[in-house]
Amino acid sequence: QHAAVIIVAAGSGTRMGAAMPKQYLALAGTPILVRSIVPFTRCSFIGQIIVVVPADRIEQTTALLAENSLNGPAMSVVAGGRRRQDSVSCGLAAVADGIDIVLVHDGARPLVSPQLIERCYREVVASGAAIAAVPVKDTVKRGNAELHIAATVDRSSLWLAQTPQGARKHLLVDAFDRLADRDVTDEAALLEQAGTPVRLVHGEESNRKITGPEDLLLAESIMATQSS
Ligand code: C5P
Repeated sequence: QHAAVIIVAAGSGTRMGAAMPKQYLALAGTPILVRSIVPFTRCSFIGQIIVVVPADRIEQTTALLAENSLNGPAMSVVAGGRRRQDSVSCGLAAVADGIDIVLVHDGARPLVSPQLIERCYREVVASGAAIAAVPVKDTVKRGNAELHIAATVDRSSLWLAQTPQGARKHLLVDAFDRLADRDVTDEAALLEQAGTPVRLVHGEESNRKITGPEDLLLAESIMATQSS
């Protein structure tokens, strides 16, 4: 049973403060976007890779993938949309007929492992929908507008969402069709609101999203530890 993965990389990445979107910045010599794609090419069950980028970066991205030998027939580059969920929707439209399982991965999570991808895939096959996540380790406070603590939240049931996230294609298409007007920050939120149970899969602490300059430094040191 083959799966497609939609790599979402159509954000502006402004929090990095760099001249180009963060997904194109180099991490240990290789662009973050390339590093976010490569682990999927190591998974035999991935039959299609769809990379979603800003409309004006399609050519640049196509060239970048070719330079890194990521230009097989199962690879395509499409334009994204305004919100992350619009970009996922653009990717969904490009999923090949006959592929029933769709994973979504952030183009800014370069340290994902093939093992985690496989765990997510297997859970989607078994349960219909799944998401990588890690338990919250810090104490969590809810604050109010006056910067006072309003509550301390019980963290024992809290998880930090990562990607891959995924589902059977029809569940995602249905959720996107019915809930297009809801603003969400990930696909799982749309699935939840559509009433689809989503299983949590233990993610990896190293599978961090690169958001600011400090994340790049951290990713570099994680990579140095992994290779030593
Ligand atoms: O902004 P944030 O870091 O949450 O974005 C997560 C991922 O979604 C990034 O890889 C980003 O490029 C992608 N994204 C997108 N289209 C948008 C906004 C974000 O593909 N309109």
